[in-house]
Order: sequence, then structure tokens, then C-alpha cells
Amino acid sequence: MADAREFQDRLLSLGLARVSEAAALASARLIGRGDEKAADQAAVNAMRDQLNLLDIAGVVVIGEGERDEAPMLFIGEEVGTGKGPAVDIALDPLEGTTLTAKDMPNALTVIAMAPRGTLLHAPDVYMEKLAIGPGYRPGTVTFSMSPSERVSALAAAKGTSTNDITVCVLERPRHEEMIAEIRSTGAAIRLITDGDVAGVMHCAEPDMTGIDMYMGSGGAPEGVLAAAALKCMGGQFYGKLLFRNEDEKARARKAGIQNFDRVYTRDDLVRGDVIFAATGVTDGSLLAGIKREVGYLTAETILMRSKTGSVRRMSYRNPIR
Ligand code: FBP
Repeated sequence: MADAREFQDRLLSLGLARVSEAAALASARLIGRGDEKAADQAAVNAMRDQLNLLDIAGVVVIGEGERDEAPMLFIGEEVGTGKGPAVDIALDPLEGTTLTAKDMPNALTVIAMAPRGTLLHAPDVYMEKLAIGPGYRPGTVTFSMSPSERVSALAAAKGTSTNDITVCVLERPRHEEMIAEIRSTGAAIRLITDGDVAGVMHCAEPDMTGIDMYMGSGGAPEGVLAAAALKCMGGQFYGKLLFRNEDEKARARKAGIQNFDRVYTRDDLVRGDVIFAATGVTDGSLLAGIKREVGYLTAETILMRSKTGSVRRMSYRNPIR
């Protein structure tokens, strides 16, 4: 039989799903309305209100920004009733603000919770990312390989040809060379305009999403959230912080980071058990977006616990008030 702490974890995980659901439902009326800021603000307000109902002594470690630039869900903000376990909270109330504003696929609301002191306090800089799904031996692909070597190594491990590999990449000028090199192997590329948390998560379910590997740079905070997701779903993740100037290095130092060249594995970024919840805002390959019917909104949430490897998908129909 499960012990009392286990039971508490389970209850808390359901509470966490309600937090990501609330944020997604709040941003629903702003899907396709061309206003990124309003969509983000609606999600932030709802996520914060719902999070503060949970019996946790939470501290936001990945949030909306530093205290002086984000009035709500800023890094260091204490959340929850203060009565429960001491936990770190990583969140992105709306991952894909532009996707939401333009009604494009794969916008999500995302939150992860782990014991206090176990999530990397990633500064808001870029991170080079590399991810593959479960079932491969550690080190099947690495940063020391070139993009084409990674495609070949993954194809060999999968027992297939490079032509049958699909890599997900953010469409950015900084990735042009990498994209050309990947294409030279015969592999396919799924280009996304935003939303690399979903991009990385796609690798964990290649049969459903058609994606085998994620490569390229994006936000470091999103890297920690993606690592949390893969810790629950299975899969490998590597991240390396990228610094464009001294100010970014200073921000990293402030977050407690000393080694600027370190390659973080999934389990360096998320050192303990983690609970992860994400709700679809716009339709995607992993989660349906918010569905509107007369009088109702329906949201789909994925809720996962790394301790048990459980992955639960839940559909929630809510009357519009
Ligand atoms: P939003 O902040 O608009 O939600 O965008 C998120 C995102 O696309 C992330 O998924 C990604 O990590 C990052 O922005 C990429 O940053 P940039 O647009 O500077 O390349």
C-alpha cells in the first residue's frame, strides 16, 4: 500500500493539473486575437491564483523573470498556502505567446514541482539543447558530435536509415547552417516557429508525433521545463548555457552558476523527483488545444510523475461563466 507521503504526492499532482488547466482556460478567449501580452497576462493571473490555493511552501525558481521586471510569478516569489512540503516551482504560464495570439499549433501552459533545491535556477539566457526519446543507451547522441553525426548515430541506434529520422528545430536565422547540415543526411526537419518545450516533449512520443530528435538553442528556463517533462516521459536531454555578453554572465552568477561551460544532463537540471503538468492551449501533436462549444470550454492536460513514470491525460469540460 502507498505510504502517506506517496498519497500526498498524488493529491498534489492533481492540484498541479488544475493550475495548468486554469491558466489555459483563462487564455482561451485570447487565442487568435493578436495580443500576446494580454494572453500571457490572463494565463499568469489564473496560474498564480490557482497555485496559491495549493498546500505547498513553494518558491518560484523558473518564472516570469526577475522581481524588478515581473510583478507576478517572479523568480523567488513564495507561492502556495505555506502549509505543505517545501518545493521548487518551475513554470511558464503561456509557452508560446505568439502561437496563441496567431492561433498556431502547440501553445501550452506548463508547470513543474520538485523538492526544494532540486531544480536548476536557470538564468534567462539561451541554452543549446539536444534531446532524444526513451529506449536508447546513454550518450547515443552528444554535443561533441556534429549535427549530421547525431542523425547518423540515432539512425544506427534505431536500426533505420537517416532518411527515416525527423529532427525538430526552431526556425531561426541562427540555425540555418545546422538545418542545412541535417538536411544533407537525408533526414527530415520539422520546423517550429516557437515553443521548444513542446518540441522537446515530442521526442518522447515519436510514434504519435513523428519526431525523433530535438536540436538547437532556445530559452534556458524552457530547457529546465523540458528536462522535467523528459524525466517523467523518459528520454535524454543535454543543455549548455550560451552567453552573449557580460550582463548575461552576471545574471548566471546571481543564479548561483559558476561553471559557464558545463553540459547539463536531464538529471543535472532536475535532480529529484518531479511532477509535471501541461495543458494544451492551441491544438498540437501531443495535446488538443482548448475546444469551444456553446456554453463550455474543454481543456486537455498531461500530468506526469517521474517517481512512478505515470503519464495521465485528462480532459476537463468546464461551463463558461
Ligand atoms: P514565448 O516567450 O513567446 O512564449 O516564446 C517561447 C519560445 O519560443 C521558447 O519556446 C523558446 O525557448 C524561445 O522562445 C526561443 O527564443 P527566441 O525567440 O529568442 O529564439
